[in-house]
Amino acid sequence: MSSQFYITTAIDYANGSPHLGHAYEKVLSDVIARHRRMEGRRVHFLTGLDEHGQKVQQTAQKRGVGPQALVDEIAAVFQGMLRDLRISHDDYIRTTEPRHKQVVQRFLQQLFDKGLIFKATKAGWYSVRQEQFLSDKDRAEDGSWPEIYGEVTQTTEENYYFKLSQFQAWLIEHIRAHPDFITPRFRQNQVLEFLKEPMNDLCISRPKSRLTWGIELPFDPAFVTYVWFDALTNYYSAVEGKGLWPADVHVIGKDILSPPHAVYWPCMLKALGIDPPRQLLVHGWWTINNQKASKSSGNALDTLGFAATHGADAFRYYLCREMVVGQDADFSAATFENRYKADLGNNLGNLVNRLLNMVGRSYAGKVPAAAADEELEQNLRGLWAESARKYQEAFREYQVSHALESLWVFISAMNAYIEARAPWKLAKSADPADRARLDSCLAHVAEGLRLAGTLLLPVMPETCGKLLTHIGRPVPDRFADQLAWSWAGTGSQVAEKCILFPPIEPPTAPAKA
Ligand code: MSP
Repeated sequence: MSSQFYITTAIDYANGSPHLGHAYEKVLSDVIARHRRMEGRRVHFLTGLDEHGQKVQQTAQKRGVGPQALVDEIAAVFQGMLRDLRISHDDYIRTTEPRHKQVVQRFLQQLFDKGLIFKATKAGWYSVRQEQFLSDKDRAEDGSWPEIYGEVTQTTEENYYFKLSQFQAWLIEHIRAHPDFITPRFRQNQVLEFLKEPMNDLCISRPKSRLTWGIELPFDPAFVTYVWFDALTNYYSAVEGKGLWPADVHVIGKDILSPPHAVYWPCMLKALGIDPPRQLLVHGWWTINNQKASKSSGNALDTLGFAATHGADAFRYYLCREMVVGQDADFSAATFENRYKADLGNNLGNLVNRLLNMVGRSYAGKVPAAAADEELEQNLRGLWAESARKYQEAFREYQVSHALESLWVFISAMNAYIEARAPWKLAKSADPADRARLDSCLAHVAEGLRLAGTLLLPVMPETCGKLLTHIGRPVPDRFADQLAWSWAGTGSQVAEKCILFPPIEPPTAPAKA
């Protein structure tokens, strides 16, 4: 396995404000990137902004600003979101940057020179919103155009086409031969289903009479590049010459799997003689209170606000825990607060407080040595080994919610262990065997918390850093041997107290008139 790991997210449309869908994808990718870094991989994590196209041009016109000024403004807002969510990307690509434009133009020229791009005239129905021609297959059952296409008009146009159809047989074979290419697996079947129909060639240009905000075709200045051809190229243009290609994983939402990422992108690369990316990790869609999250009308619930009020880490945890990667999930204040209180406050946070209290009271803040070793202790250590193994196994498939679920089995077991040991009783006993049990109990909880806090660093970097520091242990930047049970923490000095997850304030009652 190469030590290098190149991960990307979709680049967001510079056409509005960041929303939950954007936030989730960046958090999921960030958790993967941080986890891989801790495994010792040399990670390159790319995200960015998709800045060309009709929608940007229209929004700029509507707002009475130039398109570049608009995307500059929007880029700042999106980058602000990344900061707020503690996203640790190594690079941010904007498709208006020269480094990107240059590669798009070279790709186009190469395909043109190879005879893989041709000019043709087409008449038909055109969706302004989706920036694509439609066929009768796209109509709803009653013959109308589905809402996702927005305004649909009849248009005749001369354009340039990429000979996509030429790569259909290769693509089917490639997908079959690489069953991990599209993850989770059930998504692969949808793509193969799509590929049963003969593919059309792909229109890769827009006449400047209709759209000027794009990358000019190098062989015909009367046209700009179709946004998807432009946008997909970001994954390559951002790392050209850095020896990072092929990407290990492109993290994307289910709506942009097929055809853009599963069909256009691998075929474009194949035509250029470049290897396809290794994997597409396809996540589902969030709804908010069971409504579409990205509805332009905006949802009443300010989901990103939860990161501000409850901390970025709690928000990251919630997103990772609540959505099974690949499936859809619903965001609501009730499920958020429930996870915050139950998983984080009462389970993990409480455990830290119990430890600090007892070590403070009975051992002047110094973690005792594990003196007694009975079945309860052996079981707890066994459970750690099992939880950690299951965590890593789930993580291998990027099933982060399942990974967290396994870890919480261990965290709950630590609370149950304390209940069973009842250290507050042991502390009162004059029996030396009880003192030995008390020593062991606190030593085990301290070590268990170190282990859990270490494994969780990629999900809640700041909180787990705080946890580890407060129990008197270093914050590692590699897992290495840090996930094995050890007594190296004996004698370490714990803090007096540590509030990882402050209780949620009850909503203030409206002032009485
Ligand atoms: N600009 C294109 C992607 C080009 S990639 C070469 C795009 N942008 S987007 O802003 O509409 O979406 C960005 C990402 O956010 C996509 O992966 C999309 O699936 C994801 N999400 C947008 N809304 C979402 C939800 N409601 N839930 C989860 N993810 C969603 O598509």
